[in-house]
Amino acid sequence: METKIRKIDKNEIDEDIIQEAGKILKEGGLVAFPTETVYGLGAHALKEEAALKTYAAKGRPSDNPLIVHIADYEDLQKIAVNIPPETDALAAHFWPGPLTLIFEKSAVVPYGTTGGLDTVAVRMPENAAARGLIRAAGGFVSAPSANTSGRPSPTTAEHVAEDLDGKIDMILDGGPVEIGLESTILDMTVQPPMILRPGAITGEMFEKVIGEVSMDETLLGDESEKAPKAPGMKYRHYAPKAKLIIVEGDLREEILAVRQLAYAAKREGRKIGIIATDETLPFYKYGVVKNIGTRENEKTIARNLYKVLREFDDEDVEVIYSESFAVQGMGKAIMNRLEKAAGHLRISAAAVAKQQKYRRVTFVSGSDSARAPMAAEILRHYELKQEYVIDSRGLVVLFPEPANQKAEAIMKSAQMTLQDHVSRQFDEENLQDDALILTIDENQKNKILSEYGQTENVYTLNEFVGDDTQIPEPYGKPLTAYGECFEVLSALVRMLAEKLDSLVEEEQ
Ligand code: TXA
Ligand code: MG
Repeated sequence: METKIRKIDKNEIDEDIIQEAGKILKEGGLVAFPTETVYGLGAHALKEEAALKTYAAKGRPSDNPLIVHIADYEDLQKIAVNIPPETDALAAHFWPGPLTLIFEKSAVVPYGTTGGLDTVAVRMPENAAARGLIRAAGGFVSAPSANTSGRPSPTTAEHVAEDLDGKIDMILDGGPVEIGLESTILDMTVQPPMILRPGAITGEMFEKVIGEVSMDETLLGDESEKAPKAPGMKYRHYAPKAKLIIVEGDLREEILAVRQLAYAAKREGRKIGIIATDETLPFYKYGVVKNIGTRENEKTIARNLYKVLREFDDEDVEVIYSESFAVQGMGKAIMNRLEKAAGHLRISAAAVAKQQKYRRVTFVSGSDSARAPMAAEILRHYELKQEYVIDSRGLVVLFPEPANQKAEAIMKSAQMTLQDHVSRQFDEENLQDDALILTIDENQKNKILSEYGQTENVYTLNEFVGDDTQIPEPYGKPLTAYGECFEVLSALVRMLAEKLDSLVEEEQ
C-alpha cells in the first residue's frame, strides 16, 4: 500500500487535508496523526475491523486495548457509562490535554477496541489537527502510539514513516510533538482513582483537583511479581536494539562510573553509547554520546527521550549507559519509560566505583615545576586499564608558573610536552579517598603526613613501585641533569603503570 504523507500546520489547518484523512478513517482505513504527546495511529474506534487492522499494522498483541480519542466532551457519554462525578473537574482542568481516563464502556464500543475489556480508555487531545481529524472521522478515533510494537513511540512524522510506511493509508505530518511521552492514564473505575501510567499530568496535579489518587504500585518497582493494571505496561515497550543500562547514584558518582565504563569499553574495542545531559556532556570523551536535554528543565528530557533511543538504533553500539533522573513530577514518567526501555537493567554507580581503588594520581614535588609534572606527563602517555585524573602539585608554590624550560626541552625530545602546565599548590582538596599521592622524595611525604595527618594513599614514588633508584634533583644543573632525571622517572613510571594495572581486577 502506498502511504500518503500530508503536511499539516496546527495553527493553520488545511480543511481539505483533514476531510481527506477523515474519509479514510470513516471507510475503515488507518491514518497516523500528531497529538501533543506522541503520534497516534488512528482508526475508527467503533468499528471492530478497524481495530484488527491497527493491531496488524503495529504488530501488536490484540489483548492490548486502544485509547479512544474524542474532540468534544459531550461525546464521552456515548462511549462510557457510570461516569463518576469527579470527571467534570478533571476534564475542566486537563482536557483537552495529555490525560487518558478509564471508564466502564458502553455497548457501542466494540471489544476489538478495548482488547476484550469492559472498560474503555478515553482521551481528548489538544492538538488542533488531531481534534479536526477526530471530528471529520465522526467523533471517535482509536489511536495507539504510531510505532511498531516494541519500538520507541514516535515523536515526529519521520519516526512514524520509519515504522509504518507502506502499512497505513496516510501520515499527517504536523512536525515534532511538544511533550514527547504518552498521556497519563488514570483509572476512574476504582476509588480513589489510580494512575496506571505516569505522564505530564502528575499525581500532585490530580490531587489539587480531586483529592487523593493512588498509583499502580507495579509501575516503578523492578522485579514486581504483579502484572501492571494497564495491559500495555507489561510489555517490554520502547526497547532500543542495544542493551540499555541505567546508572544510578548521585550525579557525580554516575559521571565517574560512566566514564570508567566507557574507558574500559574503548580499551576492549567495544562501541558503547551514553545518554548525557547539557550539564554532563563535557565529561565524556569516549563512546557515542547523545544529549537528551537539560537537567534544569525536565520537559526537554521528556521531549528528546524517544528520539535519542531511536537514534541509537542507527548506531551499532552494543550497550547504552544512561544517567538517571529524579523521580519527581515529569521525572516519574521519564524514569518509568527509561526503565521499561532498559528492561529494568541498572547498575549502581557506587558499585562501579568500588572496582577502582584510585581514580586520581597526583605527583607531588617541591615547586611543581619539573619532576612532578614530568612524571605526570609520562604517566599520561600510558594506555592504562582504567582512566585516572593524572596531575601534579607542589608543596611550596608561591605563584603559578609554567614548567621549567629545561624540563620542557627534555620532554620535547621525547615527543611529550609540559607547555600547558602551570604549577599549583598542594592542599587538603588533593587528599580525597580515591586519590593516590606520590611524592618525589621522602621529605615531601613526611611533610604531607605531618601537616594533614593523613597516612593512607600517600607514598613516595619509589616506595609505591618498590624500587629505590633515587630520583635526582636537576634544579640549577645543566640540561643533561634533566635528561638523567627523565630517564629515572621514565623507568619508575613504567613500573607504576604496571602496578596500577595490576590493581585492576581483570574480571569486572
Ligand atoms: O499519549 C497517548 O496516550 C498516545 C496518543 C497517541 O494519544 N497513545 C498511546 O496509546 O500511548 P498506546 O496504545 O500506545 O497506549 C495505551 C495504553 C496501553 O498501555 C493500554 O494497555 C492502556 O493504555 N489501556 C487502554 N485501554 C485500557 C483499559 N481499558 N484499561 C487499562 N488500560 C488500558
Ligand atoms: Mg504505545
